[in-house]
Formats: sequence, structure tokens, C-alpha cells
Amino acid sequence: MAPLEVTPYMEALDLTSAPPLARIETLGEHAGKTVRLRGWLRNSRSSGKIQFLEVRDGTGAIQAVVLKNRVSPEEFEAARRMGQESSLEVTGEVREDPRAPGGYEMAVTALTVVHEAQEFPITPKEHGTDFLMDHRHLWIRSSRQHAILRIRAEIMRAITEWLDDQGFLRMDCPVLTPSACEGTTTLFETGYFGDKAYLTQSGQLYNEANAMAFGKVYCFGPTFRAEKSKTRRHLMEFWMVEPEMAFCDLEENLRVQEEMLSYVVQRVLQRRRVELQTLGRDLSRLEKIRPPFPRLSYDEAVEILRQGGVDFEWGNDFGAPDETILAERHELPVFVHRYPTSCKAFYMKPVEERPEVCLSADLLAPEGYGEIIGGGQRIEDLALLEARIREHGLPEEAYRWYLDLRRYGSVPHSGFGLGIERTVAWICGIEHVRETIPYARTLNRLYP
Ligand code: 4AD
Ligand code: MG
Repeated sequence: MAPLEVTPYMEALDLTSAPPLARIETLGEHAGKTVRLRGWLRNSRSSGKIQFLEVRDGTGAIQAVVLKNRVSPEEFEAARRMGQESSLEVTGEVREDPRAPGGYEMAVTALTVVHEAQEFPITPKEHGTDFLMDHRHLWIRSSRQHAILRIRAEIMRAITEWLDDQGFLRMDCPVLTPSACEGTTTLFETGYFGDKAYLTQSGQLYNEANAMAFGKVYCFGPTFRAEKSKTRRHLMEFWMVEPEMAFCDLEENLRVQEEMLSYVVQRVLQRRRVELQTLGRDLSRLEKIRPPFPRLSYDEAVEILRQGGVDFEWGNDFGAPDETILAERHELPVFVHRYPTSCKAFYMKPVEERPEVCLSADLLAPEGYGEIIGGGQRIEDLALLEARIREHGLPEEAYRWYLDLRRYGSVPHSGFGLGIERTVAWICGIEHVRETIPYARTLNRLYP
């Protein structure tokens, strides 16, 4: 089926014979013709009888050239006076110009100011992070933020397309939940008509029920953790895609992960190359991301850390510096599997002949970006799961439905959760996750 052609509603409403409304992204289709553009003034400079306006419309930016003798004196004056981020409509001829960033510029023949902006707080000079985060609603207009947020959207789209094509069914899980999935210390609590409810930490438990109903499923939504960590990798609200598969062991689970992630990276390279270049990303590093990824057991990882001079105690979880050391040895993301059962969640299936480790795996991104995926094989045995819930001090009542999955046709099953923001940070090659989501919720920041 051919894609549905959607006409921007402003264009549909336009019954005049004015030149067609164009989008900067596809301006090349109008080369040599006269079109209209609607957008905002990103920047401008003047040299006497010429005004150079950098106009952005959300799909891209273009230089619009206003010559004094081509427009009315009022229009020329308006172009001269208009401040950064004023909104406008310009009409003009689209000209090919190999020197222009997008390959085109516009020779303006008419100009209307829609709204004259007040002095815009974010100027091309350097601003501090707090200032920018306070103005996040305006900061997202910048070309760097455009590049990051477009790559984020591409990553999310590639993930869902890949999973849909592989026969996974999207089943969204609740945000308000009665119980914890990833430990009780990071729960956000809220009231629920006289009861307590928590914002979901992960859709996994519901996903397991969905997998027993539909085989291969995934959920994709916001998840919440009250993490008192102020690091470049932690958000209080982050997005996670969580596939879950019935009749699936740990090794099959890892194969899905490496295939999916490689596809996503190659898709971004294909469709968002310009944006990666805007961010100065080293593309050659991303081009290498193809399966299979190296696999390292927890035991081997501990050995590597010790050989590298780290005084690491078996049984502990890895910290960010440890993860960096482990990932640094590879150009590909690396799986660390079979962690100590004691440092993972209650549902992880212990290795039968060695129950002190479990069938869990984390995927560590290259270049020091740390864990981007956490997953594993789940306990399918009723008695063992009941025992684990008790050992973890979890309220059994809230998990009654979850235990039912081990009463009615229990099967080996596995799944994983990929954190979107950390994945975006790695693919974009940027320092901090706060720029990878439109409105980051970090420790102590709930504005804007
Ligand atoms: O390793 P985690 O805690 O795994 C789970 O939640 C499983 N229940 C998923 C599953 O098997 N269905 O989290 C998974 C991923 C991490 O690897 C990381 O990428 C991301 O979620 N993540 C965070 N990202 C940003 N800020 C935080 N506070 C995060 N906590 C986890
Ligand atoms: Mg984890």
C-alpha cells in the first residue's frame, strides 16, 4: 500500500492562488520555483542593501536572502528590525547553492512578520547548563537539540518497526501499579483512592503475562525510578522498550538484543547521517556495530577488573568506572552475563548447577556509555518464585496474579529492557542523558 499523503492542514485550508507552501526538508523538490515558507528567524545579518535571514521551519533551516530592490521598503525594514525567533512567512524562489548547508537558498520576494519576538534569552553565545535546562522549552529550537531529538525519534521508530516485523505484538503496560518490579528503594509512591500506588519501574511483570498470552510481545513507554543519583546516566523518568518472549532462553534472548540494536544503529546511520554529523559523531565507530557482540561472564569480568588493578569483591555490582573498563576492550557493545543472584532482581532464574549466579545479562555500550540493556531468563517454577518473593520481603498479595503465570502453562521465558535515553546518548556521542529527552526529569529538577 502506498503511504498515505497527508496535506499539512494550513495548506489544505489555503484557497488562494498564493505560491505553494513548502517545507525546508524537501525544498529541493521546488528548485527554480517560487514557494512560501512559514517558520522562525534563527539568526540574521545585514550588509547594507541585503539582509540574510536564517529561517527554520522545524524540518530544517535555510538562508533567505532579502534584496532591498526586490521587496517593498516596509518589508525590507521589517526584515531588518525582526529579532531572533520572530515568526514569519517568506515567499521566494528556491535556488540551488552548493555552498549552502542544505544545498539551497531562497531569493525573497515577499515577507510577512507573524509575531515579533521579545529578546530571545538563548543567543549564539555560550550558556551554562542550568540556564539552558531552565529554558529547555526554548532550547529545543536549537540545531543541536534538533539533531538529538530527531535521532531519538528515529531510534524509537526503528525499534518498533524491527519488533513488529519480527512478529512481536505491542502490548502497553500500566503506569500505575500496586507492586515493585526492580526493588522497593526506587519507587515513586502516589495515592490511589485511599490505597497506595506506584509509578511503574518496568512493564516486565505484565509483559510476562502478555507473553504467555501472545508468545512474543513488547511494551514501550515511560518508566520511573526515584534514584537519588546525580550522574550523567540517570533520569527519574526514562523510556524503555521491553520485549518478552515465551519459550526463550538466555542465549536466544541475547541474539534478539544484538540483532535489534545493530539494526537500529544502521538505520540511524542511513536516515539521520546529517544529524549525526551536526553532532560531530565519529560515524566509523557506529558503522562497526553488527552482530555478534562479545560475551563475557561476570566471573571473567571480575578477573579482568582485578588484572587491571581494581580491588573488586566477587558478588558486588559493577559501578560506572568498572563498566567503562570492561567496555573499553571492545569496539562492539559487550554482554556481561551470569551475575551473582544476590545482586539482581527477585525474578532472575538461577543457574541450576550453580544457583549463586543467575541467567541475567547486561549489555554495556562502547565508549564508556555503560549499561544500556538489562535482561535475563525468568524463574518459571512456582515454588522457587514464591520463595524468592518472600526472601526479598515483597508483599505476596500484590504478586498473586504474577504467580498464576507459573500455575497455568508455565514455560521458560526471557526478555530485556533497553533504556532509550542511554542508547540515544551513545549513538549521538553526547555527554549527558539530559539532552536525549525533550524534558528531562533529573534529581531535583521538575521545571519546565
Ligand atoms: O536493568 P533494568 O533495571 O532492567 C529492568 O527494568 C528489567 N525489568 C527490564 C526487562 O527485563 N524487561 O533497566 C533496564 C534499562 C537499563 O539498562 C538502562 O538502560 C535503563 O533501563 N535505565 C535507566 N535509564 C535512565 N535513567 C535511569 N534511572 C535508568 N534506570 C534504568
Ligand atoms: Mg540493570
